[in-house]
Amino acid sequence: MLLLGIETSCDDTATAVVRDGVRVLANVSTNQDEFHAKYGGIVPEIASRRHAALLSAAVDDALTRAGVGLGDVDGIAVTAGPGLIGSLVVGVATAKALAFATGLPLYAVNHLHGHLFAAFLERDEPPAYPFLALLVSGGHSQLVEVRSPTALRVIGKTRDDAAGEAYDKTARLLGLPFPGGPALEALARDGDPRAIAFPRHRPDPGTLDMSFSGLKTSVRYFLESDTGKTARREDVAASFQAAVVDVLIDRVERALDGNHRPLAGDPRPLDGEYRALVLSGGVAANVALQSAFLALGKRRDIPTFVPERRFCTDNAAMIAAAAERRGEASRVNPRTLVADPNLPFV
Ligand code: KG4
Ligand code: ZN
Repeated sequence: MLLLGIETSCDDTATAVVRDGVRVLANVSTNQDEFHAKYGGIVPEIASRRHAALLSAAVDDALTRAGVGLGDVDGIAVTAGPGLIGSLVVGVATAKALAFATGLPLYAVNHLHGHLFAAFLERDEPPAYPFLALLVSGGHSQLVEVRSPTALRVIGKTRDDAAGEAYDKTARLLGLPFPGGPALEALARDGDPRAIAFPRHRPDPGTLDMSFSGLKTSVRYFLESDTGKTARREDVAASFQAAVVDVLIDRVERALDGNHRPLAGDPRPLDGEYRALVLSGGVAANVALQSAFLALGKRRDIPTFVPERRFCTDNAAMIAAAAERRGEASRVNPRTLVADPNLPFV
């Protein structure tokens, strides 16, 4: 299928045209950072107004860049949730209007499923099922068992902050500009990851839980106690990053070892028999995490997939990819689709 993708769940106004969930003919994203930076975080009302101002032009832009018209497209895929309600409704209303006007099929996509299927974009050999995905974004950190495009199970998740949220909050402690993840990563590049031994969360036995709020608090205590400002900020950033990466990689290893308790109601626990590893979500853009993840795949001799950077952070190509893979399971009636800020994962 040739799908038009629309993603407006947070602060990126994104559109794309994707063939067969793999070939990206156009991938357009207008970042709103300059409008939110002075507030130190995303202001939902501003995000939604920017989407309303930009989305129609972004749809035209994606079609023009792809060299196609709406008449050539086989369907429209849109993020229905989770996310900011004011942002989601702009994308959903636009997609519904286009589907109505053209009679094209409409596909509603969970934003997190989009992140998972970003790993298929521009790949000649996609990940084989079942695969294990580490999904790390600003709002979520979870390990997902993907047995098929429509059989997904969350087998581990954070008990508190998401990994991206921990980056953003720690960046703020270090006085870095918003968005914090990329800024902290840049600072960490000149630091020593072994300079400060920040704590690594250990899961309760039999679980794959993670936690990042204790780590963020340790960084705060460390900075408060360093009254003479003797510690290098680069070392603090690098040591924080090393702790985040260690925890994430440790949880993937535990999942591969299959030594966690099966989930209630799971008829046939997989016990680590995965055929591929997939990294996804905004934090997957982090080079330190990418290297550790690829090294783990090599150590365990399992094909490992890290999406291109432009497909890690929020984009619309991944929304089209998920709609393509899930097919009829994502098909919705344009009359009844409503955006859901708390859309459940499965
Ligand atoms: O997936 P995403 O674009 O939006 C959500 O769905 O949340 O993820 C955004 C998150 C933010 O917390 C951002 O700081 C983080 O991903 N992030 C990074 C990097 N790039 C984005 N974190 C660490 N290193 C990066 N290079
Ligand atoms: Zn996202």
